Amino acid sequence: MTPHPYQLYAVPFTEADQARLVGFSCGDALWSRHVSEWLLGSDVLDSMKRGTRVWLFETAEKEVVGFGSLGTSRWNWPPPDGSKATIALIPMLGIAERFHGQPPDPEWRYSRQIMGHLIAETQELARVGREAKAGGPEWLVLMVHRDNARAIQFYEQCGFELIPGVERRNNHVVMKLWIGE
Ligand SMILES: CC(C)(COP(=O)(O)OP(=O)(O)OC[C@H]1O[C@@H](n2cnc3c(N)ncnc32)[C@H](O)[C@@H]1OP(=O)(O)O)[C@@H](O)C(=O)NCCC(=O)NCCS
Repeated sequence: MTPHPYQLYAVPFTEADQARLVGFSCGDALWSRHVSEWLLGSDVLDSMKRGTRVWLFETAEKEVVGFGSLGTSRWNWPPPDGSKATIALIPMLGIAERFHGQPPDPEWRYSRQIMGHLIAETQELARVGREAKAGGPEWLVLMVHRDNARAIQFYEQCGFELIPGVERRNNHVVMKLWIGE
């Protein structure tokens, strides 16, 4: 069967990929530069050493559209004062600027495909945690700059909700998505 022309393929990221990613840019906004620099520099490698998994998302022609990452962390849940719990965390996610809003068909939108992959991986983590009775994650969490209206809108469309009154790092709000049973 011929694959859909907008189908993306998740490829595990390795350090060697950085050479072909030179010039990868999510845009010029403060937060966009931070995202590109995270992938092209040492931050992604440090995060992977702490257990974060990172994928590139490519077209059938192997053009890199974007990337996503997923790890777990121990947070006070619900933040800021709850007791310690394991959460799933998206440390970083970005799409090359020329692919923002692409393709126009929402069903094949690249951003949705990338998030769909991260959510499916999180659901698998949660399932494994439940079966092992190991207290797997029940929430998928991310932090986003409070002025990054485009990303916040996108996350809300994916079902994430803002946790009111909680800010992390510099001006980053926290959003959560239930992935428990
Ligand atoms: C965040 C990101 C992955 C989203 O991907 P995207 O392809 O741009 O997202 P989409 O176009 O599918 O969805 C964004 C939605 O917000 C809307 N939008 C665009 N600008 C907006 C704004 N300023 N305010 C509110 N909504 C906005 C879009 O119209 C779209 O809605 P629609 O599908 O109903 O038209 C991408 O923009 C990106 O990589 N940004 C730079 C890096 C970044 O910020 N990463 C996130 C770090 S937490």
